[in-house]
Amino acid sequence: MSLAHDQSRREAAPNDLDAFWLPFTPNRAFKKNPRMIVGAKDMHYITPDGRKVLDGVAGLWCCNAGHNRGPIVEAIQKQAAELDYSPAFQFGHPKAFQLASRIAAMAPGDLDHVFFANSGSEGVDTALKIALAYWNARGQGQRTRLIGRERGYHGVGFGGISVGGIVTNRKMFGTLLTGVDHLPHTYNRAEQAFTKGQPEWGAHTADELERIVALHDPSTIAAVIVEPMAGSTGVLPPPKGYLERLRAICDKYGLLLIFDEVISGFGRLGTAFAAERFGVLPDMIVFAKAVNSGTVPMGGVIARKGIYDTFMKGPEHVIELFHGYTYSGHPLAAAAGLATQDVYRDEKLFERAAALESTWADAVMSLKSLPNVLDIRQIGLVGAIDLASRPDAFGARAYEAMDTAFREHDAMIRITGDTIALSPPLTITEEQIGELVDKVAKSIRAVA
Ligand SMILES: Cc1ncc(COP(=O)(O)O)c(C=O)c1O
Repeated sequence: MSLAHDQSRREAAPNDLDAFWLPFTPNRAFKKNPRMIVGAKDMHYITPDGRKVLDGVAGLWCCNAGHNRGPIVEAIQKQAAELDYSPAFQFGHPKAFQLASRIAAMAPGDLDHVFFANSGSEGVDTALKIALAYWNARGQGQRTRLIGRERGYHGVGFGGISVGGIVTNRKMFGTLLTGVDHLPHTYNRAEQAFTKGQPEWGAHTADELERIVALHDPSTIAAVIVEPMAGSTGVLPPPKGYLERLRAICDKYGLLLIFDEVISGFGRLGTAFAAERFGVLPDMIVFAKAVNSGTVPMGGVIARKGIYDTFMKGPEHVIELFHGYTYSGHPLAAAAGLATQDVYRDEKLFERAAALESTWADAVMSLKSLPNVLDIRQIGLVGAIDLASRPDAFGARAYEAMDTAFREHDAMIRITGDTIALSPPLTITEEQIGELVDKVAKSIRAVA
């Protein structure tokens, strides 16, 4: 390839969509007819032609404080001018410590130590590695097995897809981690359809953990990881009593229980963490996304005191956990996190989510009688609508609904398969809830 050719490609770049390989996106369809976003403010995205698009998904379940909020923007700008980067290996900067303390103070029970990563996927890998290393440090290094769940989503690292249970995310990627088993998912449409909040049916599916433990023996199992509310698979609130039963079985056999709260953390279900809402204390919580309202990549793990303390032994100059990322606790992410937590506190956004829940539930359930709607689920400020698939074209109907919502009705919604998922910023008003649901209704009718 000649230099001249390279030059022409560079000049063409601003209007060339070719080079960017989009994640979790049908690239050819997108590049033929892109859905571009150039700005955002509060509850809206802005398109290149100046349309205001109502954000029905908080970006990607992350912008819980709404978009381009003044105090968060200012904190990031100030931090960039003051300290752009400093290493977290052997050195520290104050805001990472402050944010860790804030998060630890919000977490339930003795979940009081925070390890920073840069995404949910890295947070999940970190939690799984801490679980394995913890057992090693306790002289039980044979505890290596990890138990996930069907339909679980734990990001896209090899650890996360191994314990995850979404077939399309696994099937192309070889043998994955060995020594992984899966609980069954908790969904049964015949028993649960159109339930608001937690379904009555399904707590017994936790008992499958007993079978898995009996098969492998508890002495080989390190940890169980679940999303307290399965999000990316299409929103599955936990059946009543389910998480309590998982906790009890983990306690019976001494297994660590990890909650992946990448979606449910920071107010989505009306409490700081789902663990608090459901009254079940895990041994670790994975967080990301809304920790700083999606503004700067950040994720991490909150571990219980006993886990942290287990590592704090041996010579003091020796690293206790050989794990970390160049950008763990990055100054910009930490500054954004502190400013975001202030917004959540000052505007009482978690309480706001709780107060809006019944209005939200009624609004999403009002879509029940629309064509092709097979089920609607709701919990906190989350909703999901299952649509009947078109014959021989799984996912096409929801894809068209998402595209129509964006182009024709100025709304951003999320899809997985033929399920529409909704999770607006916690700043949404009652009026905007009505507006969003109306836009979704029009989009569903358009693909009947
Ligand atoms: C429960 C859960 N875990 C992990 C992840 C992965 O997070 P990330 O995309 O930041 O790696 C997600 C993302 O949606 C998630 O919902």
